[in-house]
Amino acid sequence: MKKAGFGVIGCGSIAEIAHFPSIQRTEGAELVACCDTNEQVARQAAEKWGARIWYTDYRKMLAECDDLDAVIIATPNNVHRNQAVAAAKAGLHVVVEKPLAVTNKEAWDIVNACCENKVKLMVGCDRRFWTQNQWAKQLIETGLIGQVLMARASLHEHWHLYQNHVAATDFRLRADVAGGAALADTGAHAIDLLTWLVGSKVKRTVGVAKRLAMPAEYTLCDDTVWVLLEHENGSYGCVSCNRFSHAVSQVTELYGTEGTIFTSTDATNPFQSVPMAVYTNKDYNIEDLPEIIRNYRWPQLFWVEDHIHRPLQKRWVPIVPPREPNNYTNMTRHFMNCVINDEEPLVSGEDGARAVEVMCAIYKSMETGAWIDLPLPEDEEIIPPFYKPLPPED
Ligand SMILES: NC(=O)c1ccc[n+]([C@@H]2O[C@H](COP(=O)([O-])OP(=O)(O)OC[C@H]3O[C@@H](n4cnc5c(N)ncnc54)[C@H](O)[C@@H]3O)[C@@H](O)[C@H]2O)c1
Repeated sequence: MKKAGFGVIGCGSIAEIAHFPSIQRTEGAELVACCDTNEQVARQAAEKWGARIWYTDYRKMLAECDDLDAVIIATPNNVHRNQAVAAAKAGLHVVVEKPLAVTNKEAWDIVNACCENKVKLMVGCDRRFWTQNQWAKQLIETGLIGQVLMARASLHEHWHLYQNHVAATDFRLRADVAGGAALADTGAHAIDLLTWLVGSKVKRTVGVAKRLAMPAEYTLCDDTVWVLLEHENGSYGCVSCNRFSHAVSQVTELYGTEGTIFTSTDATNPFQSVPMAVYTNKDYNIEDLPEIIRNYRWPQLFWVEDHIHRPLQKRWVPIVPPREPNNYTNMTRHFMNCVINDEEPLVSGEDGARAVEVMCAIYKSMETGAWIDLPLPEDEEIIPPFYKPLPPED
């Protein structure tokens, strides 16, 4: 059977860390072409990861390369829109790295182009593909912790960690290109993850996104973010992100009427020392525990408690999921399945555009000091401070 041909546009850090290895680990997927405006980067990526051809202009790639089925767009945020729209018009399925775009208009342009051209669109919110987050979602859906009324998602990580050691370019520091940082970069993950786990769209939001830590000579982007979310189902969420904490902290907390779930991904800490912990008020005997808890709790046996207490004593249960397949491999395999079986990707374009709307609404709420209702009006484009949108190429 013919393999699905992938092209990667933007061969910098996330392509190198995540997308190239995941394509390689996905049966039925094949890297066909690499594209990067930096010729050396494009050529080296093609040589290293086995693409048959490389380009420095994505338009040339889309026009010439006829064995592509899908592209992964891993370029700076300001070019996502034009590249994704062009790929959709070329009839290719598209994965766009988060944030889907910078302004709400850019984001919906991508969604509409993919819809009109009947191609799949997925946003690269890999947090949804970490096993512990997928399990948290499953446990919530089975009712394990009752109704989730409050949730908090956070991602705190110093500028220097990624920028000085991993990033290929300085686009993140440039507000005219990235459109923001703690909100648009780390916040894009936290907003998406929280909204998905709560399982309800955002009805209105209010918050702050400010530069408090770094001097203007370093960046004009925000580094301190608090976001309050009211969901359509009446529950409340809170997102906190920063770009000044040297110790990475990524924790998601889900508070239900009958239990609590914590998950973490990039880093654990002395208080959240395992990838996942569950507390349930429900009366379980050992044999009726949900499989996730029975098979992956740590330690494996709670010895006497398992045998003496019927029902089990209420307690925090640490859970350690298997490490493989990792989040990105899960994500690429999922996308492949969606393409082959004509299914909607888990992180849909609409999800990505709604997350961008939350970010844009936060900038608006900074101006008005008030809650902002979502969805935003279609004719209102919110442009984050210092961002310079590129004109559409279509
Ligand atoms: N999912 C995640 O956890 C995650 C992590 C890192 C980055 N990202 C996202 O991925 C995207 C890229 O980030 P990065 O860290 O890899 O950046 P990077 O600076 O490391 O790499 C970007 C690459 O894109 C190339 N490029 C720039 N403009 C281009 C264009 N017009 N056409 C083709 N290539 C172009 C650059 O030369 C560079 O090689 C961003 O949107 C970012 O938010 C997501």
